[in-house]
Amino acid sequence: MNDQAEILRKLVESKEIRKNYNPGLIKIYSVVSGKGGVGKTNLSVNLAISMAQSGKKVLLMDADIGMTNADILLGINYKYDLFDHLESGVDLKEIIYEGPEGIKFVSGGAGLLKMETLNEETQKKFIQGLLDIGGFDVMIIDNGAGISRESLSFITFAHEVILVTTPEPTAVTDAYRVLKAISFYQLKSTVKLVVNKVSSIDVGEETYGKLYNTAKSFLTVDIENSGYIFDDSRVEKAIMEQEPVVLAYPGSLASGNIKLIASSILDQKNYTGNVSTLKQLGNRFLKIFGS
Ligand SMILES: Nc1ncnc2c1ncn2[C@@H]1O[C@H](COP(=O)(O)OP(=O)(O)OP(=O)(O)O)[C@@H](O)[C@H]1O
Ligand SMILES: [Mg+2]
Repeated sequence: MNDQAEILRKLVESKEIRKNYNPGLIKIYSVVSGKGGVGKTNLSVNLAISMAQSGKKVLLMDADIGMTNADILLGINYKYDLFDHLESGVDLKEIIYEGPEGIKFVSGGAGLLKMETLNEETQKKFIQGLLDIGGFDVMIIDNGAGISRESLSFITFAHEVILVTTPEPTAVTDAYRVLKAISFYQLKSTVKLVVNKVSSIDVGEETYGKLYNTAKSFLTVDIENSGYIFDDSRVEKAIMEQEPVVLAYPGSLASGNIKLIASSILDQKNYTGNVSTLKQLGNRFLKIFGS
């Protein structure tokens, strides 16, 4: 009798899980830093690829208005960006490019500034069109360095923020400034931290510890340790070859670290906690860029 009850309960539970599963859900990650050159683009590109290798449909957006780099790392030679779509009517399909492992890539360019000036209807059409194209599970936004209007917008837009720093004191101080802004404007209650270019696990832990303790004392934002990436010459080598390091040197130290970060981020518990349907996503976007 007890066994039967147990079986029945499990059956109901599994039906519940299936019922609640919505393939239209998308999770958005915004990759930010205080100081420039700490490894955001390298992480964004290689995270996107690692997640695609785990079966996710990934859209990578280059949201660095000043310079675009992700395209170079991916070896994509793109012709049109968001600006061309919004300004010159280039078809949305033509600004989405295919990268390795089936990831899709879009460059925001000056179009990100233009978004703010659009009326609601056009914004809605854009976001819906973008999502219709790929049926994406994950969107990764590679931001420019520092605190700007755009990066703050994308911190709000995203479900999760991945803050990248190196152990250098200047990078750590600048990372703290980003945390301070996030805390002050109450943009997020938790931020994921990745310490890049570490020479040892100890150095990574020390860097995480510094930020964690300072934030705990002075800010209202929690810092989650999402992992470390070793300083690895294979990263530079891969960049020179215009191939993401996880593909060019899958056995390298840095690739192993990045794959681990990707799988911990995609960990079921963390992943399903905070996602949006397409409709919610449209609204989320409008809240920031809408007038
Ligand atoms: N783990 C690593 N090991 C060794 N070198 C690295 C590592 N990560 C990044 N680099 C080096 O740092 C440089 C800057 O990386 P990247 O372009 O990803 O930084 P970024 O934060 O996106 O810079 P920006 O702020 O200009 O957008 C790369 O060209 C690469 O040479
Ligand atoms: Mg960059």
